[in-house]
Amino acid sequence: MRKPMMAGNWKMNKTVPEALALARQIHALVGGSAVVEQLLCPPSICLHALKMLAEEMPFSLGAQNCHWEESGAYTGEISPAMLRGLVDYVIIGHSERRQLFGESDETVNQKTRAALAHGITPVVCVGEMLEQNERGQTGETINRQVRAALDGLSGAQVQSSIIAYEPIWAIGTGRAATAGTAGDICGQVRAILGEMHGETVADTVRILYGGSTKPDNIGAIMREAHIDGALIGGAALEAASYAEMVRITGEMYGA
Ligand code: PGA
Repeated sequence: MRKPMMAGNWKMNKTVPEALALARQIHALVGGSAVVEQLLCPPSICLHALKMLAEEMPFSLGAQNCHWEESGAYTGEISPAMLRGLVDYVIIGHSERRQLFGESDETVNQKTRAALAHGITPVVCVGEMLEQNERGQTGETINRQVRAALDGLSGAQVQSSIIAYEPIWAIGTGRAATAGTAGDICGQVRAILGEMHGETVADTVRILYGGSTKPDNIGAIMREAHIDGALIGGAALEAASYAEMVRITGEMYGA
């Protein structure tokens, strides 16, 4: 019922020609997958060029961030109105944005609402810092972040959202959470969604795990009942590793 997703977050990597080349290489290796949704999230400046390519190739496109206002004096920002029609998804509240660019639970909520208002699916990121993890505060951190991000949304809007659990200590460190731990936390996220909007809503929301996923660990991670996909950083920058992760997931889901 929940279609698995391999989401590549390219972060601030790839020029426009490099982005086009990477998308073509991925397509050459993996082609279309009937069962796995391939989501590419390149830098915003590459979106238009990739949109042209996406018309021929079976991947979805996502932005890495957006502002919450329609337009205005916000130098350097991109509004959801500008992304409408260009992307299907937008990553909201990635930990790098929270840590390096001052995003708070409040701005994450504003951006989530703005994306939904423009028909763009938000991929809302939550995750605890190392110190929170070591102090046993993972559960409460996730609980606060999920509730704050989705505050004021209807059940239908939550159903149209994706949550990505990304423990900050696992991002770009080569130290992924164990599949069991990642699965437990994603299960907790689903339980929170259930408390907020009931089980029917909670059961349809896709929940991704992110943080040092790669071909070696994606199988174990995807076997977890509450994990519906991965938000992939480093391993999505190489066509071979990303394609392999799509292939492994496709096999598990019976492609
Ligand atoms: P990583 O990044 O796979 O390189 O750890 C994940 C992310 O930041 O989304």
